[in-house]
Amino acid sequence: NNLDQLYRSVIMDHYKNPRNKGSIENDAVTIDMNNPTCGDRIHLTLKVTDGIVEDAKFDGEGCSISMSSASMMTQLIKGKKIDEALELADIFSKMMMGEDYSDKYDLEDVEALQGVSQFPARIKCATLAWKAMEKGVKE
Ligand code: FES
Ligand code: FES
Repeated sequence: NNLDQLYRSVIMDHYKNPRNKGSIENDAVTIDMNNPTCGDRIHLTLKVTDGIVEDAKFDGEGCSISMSSASMMTQLIKGKKIDEALELADIFSKMMMGEDYSDKYDLEDVEALQGVSQFPARIKCATLAWKAMEKGVKE
């Protein structure tokens, strides 16, 4: 249907034109993580100042779901407090279990990934960047 098509085009846009691609050079929290089921990997760097995620960049290799999810995640958490970023990670993981949050939170482009919850093999692709972010901000 039209919503699926819209979501698909949002995902492909992030995959082809990734936001926040690259690496933060100085004083960044660095997280490398891979998806054990396929070997795809993400390199995430975060700049956290006074409890706020000032900047986030990612690099890596992976499928369209994992890379677009990383792009959307960095876009969403930039400027957020650490506890807000962790709350969003929690919401995202519940979304991957099939819960609908679109009415309660503005998840921006991340909403395009909600259909992934129907494809168990793809959930690890979508959560890779979020897991890396959770690990990073807890350091
Ligand atoms: Fe990789 Fe669809 S084949 S996300
Ligand atoms: Fe490897 Fe999606 S297939 S992260």
